[in-house]
Amino acid sequence: MKAFVVTVDGPSGAGKSTVSRRLAERLGYTYVETGALYRAVALVALSEGCSPNDDNGLGKICKHLELRFGNSPKGSRLYAKGEDITERMRTSEITMLASAVSARPVVREHLLDVQREMGERGGVVFEGRDMGTVVFPGADVKFYLDADLDTRALRRYKELAETDEANSLAEVKKAMKKRDEDDSSRAVAPLKRADDAIRIDSTLLDIEQVVEAMVHYINERTK
Ligand code: DC
Repeated sequence: MKAFVVTVDGPSGAGKSTVSRRLAERLGYTYVETGALYRAVALVALSEGCSPNDDNGLGKICKHLELRFGNSPKGSRLYAKGEDITERMRTSEITMLASAVSARPVVREHLLDVQREMGERGGVVFEGRDMGTVVFPGADVKFYLDADLDTRALRRYKELAETDEANSLAEVKKAMKKRDEDDSSRAVAPLKRADDAIRIDSTLLDIEQVVEAMVHYINERTK
């Protein structure tokens, strides 16, 4: 069977990462969390004191980024210049900064090539915001995963409650709404459903039900 490129886009908290990882496991594919790439740029920018509006500085950071995805018993990891940045790139500060740097064309252009290279041979589930619209417009199967804002905020709130960052549900919801608005309204590659993407609403579905629905669509495509 041909190794497909599968894309999963949607707003934050819709369950994209968990679902995409499981889907990739089911298909025997590689899973690529593209948000991690923007988070890595944000983390380096913060550590080097580069403002998210400084295109020159961001360009240099992108040029010298050496990113590598890896696996460990703790799950998938991201290394920047050999250093494991997986935990550090998940803070609320980096989350908002990643959204800011992702609006800069210089960053998107650089990461476009990086992502396309990873998809060259197929057999990959790409998860992000513009996978089906910009990075892989010719992807074999495209999904757009959504859920209502309250449900998404509650999911993120529960995730954060397991870390040291104690935010109230109202704060989490406000930050999520702002980030989705920013990601959807930016000039370059905004978050939106590709015309040919299958929309799945995960508000009332659990992870396994979403993965099952996706596997079903993919099997239909291979018939
Ligand atoms: O998926 P995530 O929450 O880790 O993504 C962090 C930010 O990166 C998100 O707010 C927008 C940006 N992003 C993007 O612009 N395009 C992608 N394909 C993935 C993420």
